[in-house]
Amino acid sequence: MSTLPVNIDDRIVWDTWLSLFHFPVVSVADEVGTFAAISARGKSTAELAAELGLDARALQVHLGMLASLGFVERREGLWRATAATRTWLHPEADGYAGPLLQRFKERQPFHGQLLETLRTGDRAGQYPSVAAEWERGEMPPDLARMITAFMNAHSRASSTAVAMQPLFGAVRSVLDVGGGSGIFAIELAKAWPALAATVLEINTICVEADGYIAAAGVAGRVKTQPLNMFTQAWPQGHDAHFFSNIFHDWSDETCRLLARKSFEALPSGGRILLHEILMDDDDSGPLAAAAFSLLMLIGTKGRQYSLPELRQFLESAGFIDIEAARTGGGYYSLVSARRP
Ligand SMILES: C[S@@+](CC[C@H](N)C(=O)[O-])C[C@H]1O[C@@H](n2cnc3c(N)ncnc32)[C@H](O)[C@@H]1O
Repeated sequence: MSTLPVNIDDRIVWDTWLSLFHFPVVSVADEVGTFAAISARGKSTAELAAELGLDARALQVHLGMLASLGFVERREGLWRATAATRTWLHPEADGYAGPLLQRFKERQPFHGQLLETLRTGDRAGQYPSVAAEWERGEMPPDLARMITAFMNAHSRASSTAVAMQPLFGAVRSVLDVGGGSGIFAIELAKAWPALAATVLEINTICVEADGYIAAAGVAGRVKTQPLNMFTQAWPQGHDAHFFSNIFHDWSDETCRLLARKSFEALPSGGRILLHEILMDDDDSGPLAAAAFSLLMLIGTKGRQYSLPELRQFLESAGFIDIEAARTGGGYYSLVSARRP
């Protein structure tokens, strides 16, 4: 593999992967009546959810994706069907193209799953999901092996980009909370010879991560620590806490809890770093974030957050100096804040 070029931009893969949701988010909107309901005037998420009998939180995620595909737009908080949508997807329009969607929707498995999110808002118990194992902090070894390999592939490009961020030059010891295969800790250790890292994970994932760490030749500076991040006390002594794709798995309330636990374990001056694909501030895109948010909606208790939302979680715990910047790795940003 060492003869292959290093490339931190894997968007060609992500665009194809996340295109899974382009068709079904539109076929579901056609089925529940979203387009007709916002053709005559704009409506807030809450008003539209009440009118159609849908879960407001799930609907907001769907609308973000529809906006980034050009089917709806959001102005001053109100969602409205675009001119193209009013022409082609209003059931009473001459050009109504609904039959094109309806003939194929049942053959698209995400149609049913996305529909369910709108109707119940409660996904994690019903779909192939690991949210229950994550909440318990336990996972069978076979599932842990499969999930760790998935996360390692998922984070390959973005971890290289994270390790290139200059702020890590000032970090002595990083706690990688929910660090998966350890790929971020590994890349950081490779890039910064004075940096040590601990991957905090569910015990069976730690077993898998130990293999990735040994294979990368950084076992001297990268360790794993089996720990349930919700119920157990976090280790002290790290000057940075790194969370990649963790907040997007959880509800607002759980995100506030994680921020609080981090604040309590960090020393004064310590940094919290959130590696996430950010929604725009008004939740109406961009496309990759909106599609990733639909994936979170069907498989976790979370969604992709915007910087103002993450800021709120961090400030509620006491963090200051909150800022965000794209890393150059795919669609990811790094949000950084400091314990005073
Ligand atoms: C979406 S993955 C992110 C993995 C990695 N940070 C990345 O971006 O590639 C979420 C991670 O959180 C870990 N996790 C979930 N619940 C946990 C818990 N209760 N205690 C410790 N780790 C947990 C999972 O095992 C999983 O590896």
